[in-house]
Amino acid sequence: MGGCDAGDSRPPFRGLAGRDIRSLFAELPTPCYILDEEMLRHNGEILSGVARRTGCRILLAQKAFSNYDLYPVLAPYLAGTEASGLYEARLGAEEMSGKEVHVFCAAYKDSEFEELLRYADHIVFNSPRQLEKFGRRAKQAGKSVGLRINPECSTQEGHAIYDPCAAGSRMGTTRAQWDEKMSPDLIGLLDGLHFHTLCEQDADALEVTLHAVEERFGDILSTMKWLNFGGGHHITRPGYDIERLERCIQKAQQMWGVQVYLEPGEACALHAGYLASRVLDVLQNGGTRIAILDASAACHMPDVLEMPYRPPLYGAGEPEEKPSVFRLGGPTCLAGDVIGDYSFDAPLEEGDLLLFGDMAIYSTCKNNTFNGMPLPGIFVLHGDGSTECLKSFGYEDFKERLGRTK
Ligand SMILES: Cc1ncc(COP(=O)(O)O)c(C=O)c1O
Repeated sequence: MGGCDAGDSRPPFRGLAGRDIRSLFAELPTPCYILDEEMLRHNGEILSGVARRTGCRILLAQKAFSNYDLYPVLAPYLAGTEASGLYEARLGAEEMSGKEVHVFCAAYKDSEFEELLRYADHIVFNSPRQLEKFGRRAKQAGKSVGLRINPECSTQEGHAIYDPCAAGSRMGTTRAQWDEKMSPDLIGLLDGLHFHTLCEQDADALEVTLHAVEERFGDILSTMKWLNFGGGHHITRPGYDIERLERCIQKAQQMWGVQVYLEPGEACALHAGYLASRVLDVLQNGGTRIAILDASAACHMPDVLEMPYRPPLYGAGEPEEKPSVFRLGGPTCLAGDVIGDYSFDAPLEEGDLLLFGDMAIYSTCKNNTFNGMPLPGIFVLHGDGSTECLKSFGYEDFKERLGRTK
């Protein structure tokens, strides 16, 4: 057997604590996701430390991680959940019950709003018009009402799709839009402001953003009860500057007298999941050696193509790092269903087990059945090394979302 038997101490595999992946996962049907309970707990500890030391409140952004079987692991560390709309709000209310439910959506629908009021505690609007349309109803229902602002401060390079501050962005209300549209009546509806501008960033980018928020909205913030810093804070990444984050939180709380909220998704479940896959075939085209896996980038790790990024692979190196280089691809019809180029100590062979890291976030909640690809089962890895199946999927799961159930 070639491939990934070399061990791997990089952060995405830290939860495996040096245990051999074949002894842990060889019996699991592939492809499958494996959620690492201990790493979720580890992340929770870091986040709750920030909350305890600063008084801020931290929410799980469910768009990144919504495997609710594991919510009881995270719940003791968090103030609640953040939702992108009705379904996530309901999930948070049902599965992390008794905790806060916050929701932000770029535009709410009339037909859903009444039900949303049943689940959400904080409702954040994207525009003055949405605030005007729904704000009074939310207020009368006893909800805390917020508006997302756009501080027009881009701090990221390369991933324009993740930059809510790009020119012409639809996300959040700029100061010019505020000055044009926000009447005293509308301002009177607001309990707080919300900004979300970061993506996988450190606290230096938050610091820069906070200056922009102060410059553009500082006069308004002292009349607010809370300020939500959004997500994109990579707090649980080794080396993240937690002290700087805490200074930012404390500064905002002191300057404006607001309750600060953070709603990270990635940081809650960072390095807390894997995707196990097997090699189905090995082939060569000219100078390129290729392995076809039973996992697909397009279906099972869509951010690999959308973001794009090259996921960490247990025991494998960058091309050129180790003697055997392979391009890994999925079994679908999409020519670009390529996960990336990796190098190995020994050539890959049919049946080899490969383990991708960083697969708890934006994966189980974003996957799809393009080409009739089966959805990977979902397992949990417990602290004692045992695995438990949370969910397996079959043909019916593929068929039922495409038409009438007979
Ligand atoms: C409004 C909002 N809050 C929170 C998040 C979570 O971000 P992350 O998973 O990068 O922490 C996002 C991500 O897009 C978001 O749009």
